[in-house]
Amino acid sequence: TLTGCGKKENVLVVGTNAAFPPFEYMGGPNGDEAKGFDIDIARQIAEDAGKTLKVENMKFDSLIVALNAGKIDMIAAGMTITPERQKAVSFSQPYYEATQVVLTQQGKAPTSPEDLKDKIIAVQLGSTGDIMAKEYSHNVVAFNTGFEAIMELKNGKVDLVLFDSEPAANHMKKNPDLQLTTLAFEPEYYGLAISKENAELLKQTNATLDKMKSNGQYDALISQYMK
Ligand code: ARG
Repeated sequence: TLTGCGKKENVLVVGTNAAFPPFEYMGGPNGDEAKGFDIDIARQIAEDAGKTLKVENMKFDSLIVALNAGKIDMIAAGMTITPERQKAVSFSQPYYEATQVVLTQQGKAPTSPEDLKDKIIAVQLGSTGDIMAKEYSHNVVAFNTGFEAIMELKNGKVDLVLFDSEPAANHMKKNPDLQLTTLAFEPEYYGLAISKENAELLKQTNATLDKMKSNGQYDALISQYMK
């Protein structure tokens, strides 16, 4: 059976940008399966709604457009709840606290946010890091993924990268050649985004998050993914 949008009724279509480990990344034998913390949460939401999960991988800055065009039912992409985004979509209760951190070459660590002033900063396009970088510098270069931004830093093309704490730490584990600095930036809270027209799914999503937080499932995912 098909619904109005041409989506199957028994499928929950979740949009993500799977270049943000450990929240979402491509894995599996052929590297074509979306995996991660957010994907496992989305799978539980689908299951509780009696649906199967389908993940659509797309550019981060296309996600809200795709949601409001009815192409996806939900965004699970480590997306920070911001007042600006709340004008366009509904967010679930927060499910993760993060912050922006700074990546630099070894020995080039900033000591305060002031040190970001007019530095050449690489970011992921449309991310909160992108928005924040512009408050400090006129030299912001944006890429479709955080990986590409980090590559630019490695190649010596930029001074620093502003990226979310956990994906930055994840990257550092594999590439200890860079330096990660935590400055006193505001905390950010990730939420699952749902169309303002889909109050039913929002309710189900919050109910599943409540359940996962109280039955130990949420904590188990934290210890599985945030090592
Ligand atoms: N938390 C940041 C934001 O909301 C970055 C999220 C990037 N997520 C991703 N799946 N690539 O802007």
